[in-house]
Amino acid sequence: MTHRIDSATLRELTRVSADEMQRIALYPGSFDPLTNGHVNIIERGLSLCDELVVAIVHNPNKAPMFSVEERMQILREVFPDEQRVRLTTFSGLLVNYAREIQANAILRGLRAVADFEYESQMANMNRRLAPEVETVFLMAEPGSFFVSSRLVKEVALLGGDISGSVPPQALARLTAKVKQLQGKGA
Ligand code: PNS
Repeated sequence: MTHRIDSATLRELTRVSADEMQRIALYPGSFDPLTNGHVNIIERGLSLCDELVVAIVHNPNKAPMFSVEERMQILREVFPDEQRVRLTTFSGLLVNYAREIQANAILRGLRAVADFEYESQMANMNRRLAPEVETVFLMAEPGSFFVSSRLVKEVALLGGDISGSVPPQALARLTAKVKQLQGKGA
């Protein structure tokens, strides 16, 4: 037996409120520190959603250069007025946090081929854990293809110029951090 639904009922069933239409994207990462590549992904990601939640991971297994609070401060300085960017931190499973904030999508940037394996493993595992949360990748812009937080820290510690790779707010903190670490004999 087939059930027919008239068009008025169908419209009512598929009607969604303005609130439910909000598209929330979650951009997670270490951001140790924020690079121009991250900034570019955030700016472009905003065109895909209503709100972009940039979330710094608390990872007890990593020894970061910047504390979570320092990394958050850099993000606040770079995005002081952007109403649609929410800055947060999280710990534990990413998909649990994505569900908690009702994110529709996880946003990640992709650079060279080397990123692909790690990112595809994470995306597929996350999909298995939370099939309703899609992972969306944005290809890094050519100018940031080779830029990573790891390389930026290494170059800065060795006295190289990283001003083209990080926003000025991150550069100031990196310069101060390098001085502080080298004062301690790092
Ligand atoms: O900037 P990064 O270090 O590449 O970001 C990695 C991040 C934070 C996205 C990843 O480590 C993560 O999702 N951590 C949370 C723990 C988790 O959910 N692990 C399982 C991933 S399949």
